[in-house]
Amino acid sequence: MSLSFVAPPRRLLTITIDGRTVKVPEGATLLEACRQQGLDTPTLCYLENLAPVNVCRVCVVEVEGARVLVPSCSRKAEEGMVVHTDSERVRASRRSVLELLASSVDLSLAGPEVKRWMNRYRAEPERFGPAAPAAEDDRRDRARPGEHHAPEGQVAATVAQPVKLDNETYIRDYSRCILCYKCVEACGSEAQNTFAIAVAGRGFEARISTEFAVGLPDSACVYCGNCIGVCPTGALMFKSEYDLRQKGRWDEARQTVTTTICPYCGVGCNLELHVQDNEIVKVTSPLDHDITRGHLCVKGRFGYQFVQSRNGGDEGR
Ligand code: SF4
Ligand code: SF4
Ligand code: FES
Repeated sequence: MSLSFVAPPRRLLTITIDGRTVKVPEGATLLEACRQQGLDTPTLCYLENLAPVNVCRVCVVEVEGARVLVPSCSRKAEEGMVVHTDSERVRASRRSVLELLASSVDLSLAGPEVKRWMNRYRAEPERFGPAAPAAEDDRRDRARPGEHHAPEGQVAATVAQPVKLDNETYIRDYSRCILCYKCVEACGSEAQNTFAIAVAGRGFEARISTEFAVGLPDSACVYCGNCIGVCPTGALMFKSEYDLRQKGRWDEARQTVTTTICPYCGVGCNLELHVQDNEIVKVTSPLDHDITRGHLCVKGRFGYQFVQSRNGGDEGR
């Protein structure tokens, strides 16, 4: 006889979303309830395989009786809740978040949904003026709390800075970083437990950093690439993708994605091989895989060169 674990049924709660009475399982978040209703709720720091950190606030909704807007990605539904997802308050708040981010961060490689949300909420990042000049060298890495001064209003302050190129596996372009914390979570307790990166600085000078801002080769990084896998803006990117983009040759329309099993050990991680011109250009892993939930180790993520070696990987035999 085989024993199988069956999750106990969950009590259904009745809540109201935008005037519609709906039933959701106890423990569901308001975001899950909205998605169940087909409502396109913007999210930036939320990802299914990470614990919510509530830092971007673009997912806020209005709950009757609550003093402030609540982040739908982490707020659990409660019996009798009355929720508004498209009130003037909600729209104004989402618009502000998107405008402030888009005026200070390069969102050109963020997913198409970000552009859709900006159009929907009529975000106008250009109203803050033209972008201020990029920071030179590692100035942002050295910034100390209290050093940031309010801009004079002629230009929009930005996080623009040089790309960090210090290893052969991936690059860090913090001009594109929205400080969603996903990489910190993936490197830390949500997946890798390496804690090679964290948030340094305060206010506008807050940034993702290694310990003492050392380069990746001198940091605790083990090159699992789980931070790249969760980054929503292209701030963290395979070096292979970066090089092809620099040459103007990156073309997703010509890429195929093949799911296979990692050959290195017996865990059985799923790999998604992105192939362009008969070469693997990056490796991802599906978020819904029971074992890895999108995360890999250095071998599965970056150890694919042997597939492409001219003599079929026979060197050294
Ligand atoms: S590659 Fe892995 S270990 Fe290195 S910073 Fe990213 S998540 Fe952390
Ligand atoms: S580097 Fe990417 S994942 Fe990390 S905080 Fe910035 S945008 Fe988020
Ligand atoms: S997605 Fe909910 S706070 Fe960021």
